Amino acid sequence: WHHDTVSEVSRRIEVVAHRGSSEDAPEHSLAAYRKAIADGADALECDVRLTADGHLVCVHDRRVNRTSNGRGAVSALELAQLAELDFGSWKGPVGAEVPDAADPERSTVLTLERLLGLVAEADRPVGLAIETKHPTRWAGQVEERLLALLARHPVPGPVRVMSFSARSLSRVRRAAPQLETVYLMQFLLPRHRGGRLPAGNAVAGPSIRIIRRDPDYVARAHRAGHRVHVWTVDDPADVALCAKLGVDAVITNRPGTVRDQLAGL
Ligand code: G3P
Ligand code: CA
Repeated sequence: WHHDTVSEVSRRIEVVAHRGSSEDAPEHSLAAYRKAIADGADALECDVRLTADGHLVCVHDRRVNRTSNGRGAVSALELAQLAELDFGSWKGPVGAEVPDAADPERSTVLTLERLLGLVAEADRPVGLAIETKHPTRWAGQVEERLLALLARHPVPGPVRVMSFSARSLSRVRRAAPQLETVYLMQFLLPRHRGGRLPAGNAVAGPSIRIIRRDPDYVARAHRAGHRVHVWTVDDPADVALCAKLGVDAVITNRPGTVRDQLAGL
């Protein structure tokens, strides 16, 4: 390792597309994930929530208000109601690109099942980093449904489950010990400062804020036997910092740009 150049090190950093190529296309849309695959992302990040009728959809917020023309909690709406909403128009055109507002791949709510289908169709193995959102309210239903879908729709690339909830991750490992789990952290609590995670988690998922304030955290987590996946790394200075520290993955809204930067280091 110590003989490697920065470039050799940076090439090993996995680039994970946060909600797809969500700088360019509406977050969590099929279009954003297609673009992420075209941009060369190693893996796709997505947040999953349960609808009123038990489907897992890729939506970040508890409510649909920010990212669609509808209102209300995802958990109070059925999939058919969500499918009526426009999840694309809130995101205006980027640069010279004038997207077709009516393009269903930009505007239709995405189910996890469809995303698994997209990954299975890809011309190369693409990983998945699936985040369970506020799953404790649902007493295991999110994890149960997630594992059932993964069993029914196997994908060729690696699959990891991520959460801020250690309880959700231990539920996943109990039912599917082969799946790696990523323990997400917004701030570094004193008990995690030394690099150790709640037992059973393979990967640490610190925010970039943690890394900026405490760059040595990466080395401590590595010494404790964990890989380190940092979110959300869009700023070129943050990408350079992560490369210098030898993190294992960066989770970013602009996977194409970040890949290019890492290749040039
Ligand atoms: O990849 C982890 C990151 O997505 C967690 O934060 O709010 O973007 O889901 P959030
Ligand atoms: Ca997320």
